[in-house]
Amino acid sequence: MNSFARLCSAAVAAIVAATFAVSAPAQDAAKLNDLEIAHVAYTASNVDIRYAHLALALSSNGEVRNFAETMIRDHTAVNDKALALLKKLNLSPQDNGVSQSLVKGSDMAVEAMRKLEGKAFDAKYVENELAYHQAVNGLLGSTFIPNAKNAELKALLEVAQPIFKQHETHVSGLVKAMK
Ligand SMILES: [Fe+2]
Repeated sequence: MNSFARLCSAAVAAIVAATFAVSAPAQDAAKLNDLEIAHVAYTASNVDIRYAHLALALSSNGEVRNFAETMIRDHTAVNDKALALLKKLNLSPQDNGVSQSLVKGSDMAVEAMRKLEGKAFDAKYVENELAYHQAVNGLLGSTFIPNAKNAELKALLEVAQPIFKQHETHVSGLVKAMK
């Protein structure tokens, strides 16, 4: 494995770690084709939307709820654009090991977080969101944007990147405020 591939594997491992351990090793993100990259990007947004719905169900903290609502709004908008692009190109996203790892990790994270309440839930939610956005943004910048071959997919990822970075900055502030 060359250093670039190792970096990509590390990014996937970070996502998995961020969303709790999963048993199956993550597929190497650097080897994904455009349809698999589109699937991972779509899945990553759906995972964040899922976490946000959990936060809206369990948190009464106004700042946490505001962040969760922002996640639902922004990730839904990005996924709507992704679906419109795939429809236009008459293509279907392809499921893959990286997407499956994200889903498995989120199952475990949701299971762990739903047992918490009050400040304990809020702290865990924002920590998980920070780690998750750091990992996804790392993968987007180091692997998916450079590797995407279709110009429109690459452009879509480039539009999403600053939005997701803004989420990372936003939640980083919440993590600091809660310490
Ligand atoms: Fe987000």
